Amino acid sequence: MITLGIETSCDETAVALLRDGYEILANVIYSQADLHARYGGVVPEIASRDHVRKLPYLMEEALAEAGVDWGEIGLVGVTYGPGLIGPLVVGVSYAKGLSVALEIPFVGVHHLAGHLFAHRLAHPDVPPPFLGLVVSGGHTELVVVKSWDEFRVIGTTRDDAAGEALDKLGRLVGLGYPAGPTIDSLAREGDPGAIPFPRPMLGEGFDTSFAGLKTAAVRWLKDHPHPDLRDLCASYLEAIVDVLVDKAIRAARIYELERIVVVGGVAANSRLREAFPTRAAERGMRVFFPPPELCTDNAAMVAACAHYRFAERGHRDPLSLSPEANLPLDGWGTDKASGGDPDGKEVV
Ligand code: KG4
Ligand code: ZN
Repeated sequence: MITLGIETSCDETAVALLRDGYEILANVIYSQADLHARYGGVVPEIASRDHVRKLPYLMEEALAEAGVDWGEIGLVGVTYGPGLIGPLVVGVSYAKGLSVALEIPFVGVHHLAGHLFAHRLAHPDVPPPFLGLVVSGGHTELVVVKSWDEFRVIGTTRDDAAGEALDKLGRLVGLGYPAGPTIDSLAREGDPGAIPFPRPMLGEGFDTSFAGLKTAAVRWLKDHPHPDLRDLCASYLEAIVDVLVDKAIRAARIYELERIVVVGGVAANSRLREAFPTRAAERGMRVFFPPPELCTDNAAMVAACAHYRFAERGHRDPLSLSPEANLPLDGWGTDKASGGDPDGKEVV
């Protein structure tokens, strides 16, 4: 069975084709980063309009790359939240149109659940239970994943997410948007101990708060107007890595989980990928990261989630399913919580 995945929750337009839930036939991504760079962040209206423009081309590109015809697609899955509402509406409407035109079932996917399904693609032999750490531009979530449809959020972002904290440092020192990848490479050449940045909420509960770290950087930059960017990035990143690793390991210990799965854009970070497994191994735990291209936003993860929901849980969504900017992950995936208009008619 071939599943089409569509992702438009923020500034990446992504389309993927997946065979039987695991085999990636095509995974095409168009990043709008250049369009938003001059504004220092994503402009929702520009993002929505660009998704409308690019989706049809990406779709054709994915079909060509996979060598698949329209008629071979058996299921369409799309991210319907959380994210920017305009961009979500574009992807969901496009997916609904294809569901009707191709007479195939339609499944809505939670974006963060999608990120966790990137692990299923990368490590099909390492199933739940595990502790999930979702670190992206908008989220820092600690999630107990008991099974592929039982997500319990035990810690969340109080203010700035890990990726947001990196992007804000980038804005402060002119590294462009998104700054994560640039900070990643600069940090590799810097001294992580050069600047004693705070470790916000280290050892305190499972929520995270990185706004204070950015404030500390602003203050430090006032006294050091010509910083060595390599040391600045390495020290700032190290503070984030320390907090993430500490919280995840503590949570895994308390919830008696031996495996930690790290996903989301920040999971592509080389320092995090290097430091985490060593520190976890000291506690007898194992850490898994999908390959970097499945950490950042993509539609293969969306297709993987949709395929699981449909093929293994018999779930499909009504065409009345509405995008939700703040869709919660806690409890998502149980049929009760899957959303949609209760009066909506199942059309397909
Ligand atoms: O998951 P994602 O692609 O989109 C969201 O759902 O937010 O994550 C984007 C975030 C951005 O903040 C970006 O700066 C960060 O991931 N990021 C990185 C790296 N690649 C992307 N952060 C650190 N190191 C990287 N290599
Ligand atoms: Zn994401």
